[in-house]
Formats: sequence, C-alpha cells, structure tokens
Amino acid sequence: MKLLYEGKAKRLYETERPDELLMEFKDDATAFNGEKKAQFENKGRMNQALSLLLMQLLEKGGVPTHFVRTIDEIRTIVKAVEIIKVEVVVRNVAAGSLCNRTWFKEGEALKAPVVEYFLKDDDLGDPMINDDHIRELNLATLHELAFLKSEALKINDILKPFFLKTGLKLVDFKLEFGRLSTDPSTIILADEISPDTCRLWDVSTGEKMDKDRFRRDLGNVMESYAEVLKRAEDAVHS
Ligand code: TMP
Ligand code: ASP
Repeated sequence: MKLLYEGKAKRLYETERPDELLMEFKDDATAFNGEKKAQFENKGRMNQALSLLLMQLLEKGGVPTHFVRTIDEIRTIVKAVEIIKVEVVVRNVAAGSLCNRTWFKEGEALKAPVVEYFLKDDDLGDPMINDDHIRELNLATLHELAFLKSEALKINDILKPFFLKTGLKLVDFKLEFGRLSTDPSTIILADEISPDTCRLWDVSTGEKMDKDRFRRDLGNVMESYAEVLKRAEDAVHS
C-alpha cells in the first residue's frame, strides 16, 4: 500500500477506496517538536485502543469522527479527510504552554474552558494563532472556526465527566479536524485522542498519567498509559 503521510506518531496509507485511508499507530514518541525522541513498546497499540474507545463514546454523544473500522491492534480504516491545519486545544486546568505564556501556575483551575488555536506546522514549531490569523491564512472560514470551537467544547463536555468517572482529571487536550474528501462542507474529528494528546492527572494523587511523563522524564510512561486505558475500558464496561 502506498504511504501517503508519515507523522511523528502515525502513518497514513492509501486504500483501494478513494474515500478511505488506513491509519497506523507507531510506537515512536517525540516531544519539543521532535527534539526529544524515544520508542515505547505497545504505545501504538494502547493509543489506538484508547483513541477508538473515546471516538466511539463521542460518536454516541453526537460528534462525528473519522473512524470507520478496526483492522488490527495498530491499524484502522478512517474516512479520508483534508486536515485543517489548526490544532484546537481545550484547557480546563492551567498547565504546559499556558503557564509558560501567562501568569497561570500549573494546576490552577480555569473558571470556564479556554480554547486555543495553534498552526499545524512543524517547521514553525506550531505557533499559537487567533481567529483573525486563521481567516487571513485561509485555514478555515469563520463559520468553520465557530463549528470547530463548539465541537471542541462539546467534546470536552463528554470527555471531562467520562475521565472523572475513571478517577482522572482532564487537564487539557488537542484536537484535529478534517473536511471529508467526498464532501468538504462536512467537518469531522480526525487524528487521535490519547495520553499523547491529552493531559490527565489522577484525581486523588495528582500524579501525571500522560505524555508529560516522557516530556519531563518522570518514568513509568507506558505503565501510566496502560493504567489510563484500563480505567477507561472498565468505565465503558461498567
Ligand atoms: P501545550 O500546553 O504544550 O500547549 O499542550 C496543550 C495540549 O496539547 C496538551 O494536552 C498536549 C497537547 N499537545 C499535542 O497533542 N501535540 C503537541 O504538539 C503539543 C505541543 C501539545
Ligand atoms: N508532539 C510534539 C512533538 O513532537 C510535541 C509534544 O507533544 O510535546 O514534538
């Protein structure tokens, strides 16, 4: 199969159908725009499993996603989309770059969710952009951007209580959306939702259970990913 795109954590291949792609999760982990690299056995498998579980939960909640069907533990068929080059971040608690850019201290609760946009461009280090930049760069229309924001907040309204049920605080997360190749006026959730793209803290201990364990050399990276997956699986089956 023809490789169409290789990102830091996934590969996308063509399929025999023009409206479908094959998405493959890799075991690679990167941080700080690829400056720090490692491989973690089973990361791809665990991220696919959690991402699928969450996307199925979102579909039930009325959020259309790119997921079509599973091929195996690291491969799924997804709808072909043109990715909108805006990374949408939703924050419930201050952490990460928000604390580096502002007066917020890590762990400070936000009164209401904060939505931020970043330009999806590795060469530029994914800089933060605003709605005017998005319009002027023709990344999305203001109508589409309003949809991205309301969809991101709806996703937060579904995921935040779900993770709370598992004893995890959803601190923040990053989403990517795409326009259907068969109907570009339809925008769906694409990419992944996993401990690579979310911050998740244990409610009782405050322990970080996400990629910050790798970014900050906290150890037990895959043990935490496995624990997040197990808790999420227990919660959907309960
Ligand atoms: P930030 O605090 O570094 O801006 O990250 C916000 C959220 O976005 C956090 O949950 C991690 C996620 N994220 C990605 O998924 N990919 C990225 O490249 C970056 C920088 C953050
Ligand atoms: N995914 C980004 C990178 O590789 C950044 C991050 O998640 O920290 O470098």
